[in-house]
Amino acid sequence: MTAIPAQADMFVILGATGDLAQRMLFPSLYFLDSDGFLPAGMRLLGVARGQVGREAFLDAIRLTTIERAKPASLDPAAWERFAARVDYCSADVAKPEGAAKLKRAVGAATLPVFYLSLSPSLFAPVCAALKASGLATPVSRVVMEKPVGHDLESSRALNAAVADAFSEDRVFRIDHYLGKETVQNLIALRFANTLFEPLWNNLAIDHVQITVAETAGVGDRWPYYDEYGALRDMLQNHMLQLLCLVAMEPPSDLDPDSVRNEKVKVLRSLRPFTRAMVVNSSVRGQYGAGVVDGQTASAYETERGQPTTTETFVALRADLDNWRWAGVPFFLRTGKRLPERRTRIVIQFKGVPHSIFGGSGDDDLIPNRLIIDLQPDEDIELLLMNKLPGLTDRGMRLQSLPLSLSLARSYAGPNARRRIAYEPLLLEILNGITTLFVRRDEVEQAWSWVDGVADAWSEAALTPKPYAAGTWGPAGAFALIERFGRAWYE
Ligand code: BG6
Repeated sequence: MTAIPAQADMFVILGATGDLAQRMLFPSLYFLDSDGFLPAGMRLLGVARGQVGREAFLDAIRLTTIERAKPASLDPAAWERFAARVDYCSADVAKPEGAAKLKRAVGAATLPVFYLSLSPSLFAPVCAALKASGLATPVSRVVMEKPVGHDLESSRALNAAVADAFSEDRVFRIDHYLGKETVQNLIALRFANTLFEPLWNNLAIDHVQITVAETAGVGDRWPYYDEYGALRDMLQNHMLQLLCLVAMEPPSDLDPDSVRNEKVKVLRSLRPFTRAMVVNSSVRGQYGAGVVDGQTASAYETERGQPTTTETFVALRADLDNWRWAGVPFFLRTGKRLPERRTRIVIQFKGVPHSIFGGSGDDDLIPNRLIIDLQPDEDIELLLMNKLPGLTDRGMRLQSLPLSLSLARSYAGPNARRRIAYEPLLLEILNGITTLFVRRDEVEQAWSWVDGVADAWSEAALTPKPYAAGTWGPAGAFALIERFGRAWYE
């Protein structure tokens, strides 16, 4: 095991008046504090260009924290303690005078964290400014949000600029899906049980499905989204991370490099996407007008204000060329304005090699299936075949019964607040542990594969097919999986 890293003594959020900082980061820090996880004496500093006074800044984050705490309310004593840690500094850190001002505000802190809750175009200049002002010390840490680049080339350039100021063990690339409870539970499920591992391969598993469905549309985020689309916004990061956790070999321990080495091996074994695979193995879609959650929803092009070829839906078949997964397709799909919000991983096992039941028993037989639900509900469910209770006059009838782990959640108490995915991640940053963060070679390897998909699409001139908001994407998404003899599990 590597030495235990020191705890941070200051947490600086750059872009502190932005949406992410206000809705996610500060509330997460409050909850960590109220649960006793923040180091005593640790200061929190919000930094942004706006001339906002400390009180007004605190008022704003108090409101977003109240929202997050619902149905419970804030504990006044915990809020007072938290508020006493918080300060605000108005500065444009990309400029030398702004960085100098930040340096004065950081003061005597010896192990600060700099969270770049900023537009990615500012990552490189801000890291350079932190370095030039002496704030990028050998122990200070930096946190980056996705997207880390737009393709492999831009990702490499960005990573190189950050590496010029911070060594890799001090760089925390956030993928907030890795902070979700059930995603971490997937690690426990696979590696804290002996039951699954002997079956976790192409001998027993028929295929894997990963669905990340959202009801929300792009809305006023289009200036960002239109450049990225579903492939780069969701599949390059969140979905490939989920795929890695499902497919990786058992690491020797939970050390950051042990886990991340295994994830990189998975990404390296992804079969490169070629033009020949475009039509059979991928679908691009873009939502038109429709109805979602009983409300009418505009077309993406209406939100965007002009026609565009950016996809808001992608489905594809991925293959891993290695011993464990040879011949096991991974079907991935994600989209906006789908009928429901759902993130689900389905591990579909093969059927029994020979049925002894005959007749109606045969008809009842369903191959086992492990369903891992991340949201909106968290659950892990194993479908097992069972005898239908009671008597029948001809043969044994079977039924499938779900064995559900949803009970596990209630151990935390029936009214337990669902943690924000950022909470565990921020705690790991404070403690300097990078296991749940994306390493440089990992993000670049993911881009390399995604670039192949994007290039294949453009060579084949594949434009997005329309789908009505509130439906499961273009018809082609169903044809895709059916072509390989499977169906999406709803
Ligand atoms: C973000 C994407 O990374 O993840 C958004 O940029 C997407 O487009 C969001 O809506 C989904 O996150 P979650 O946690 O709501 O599933």
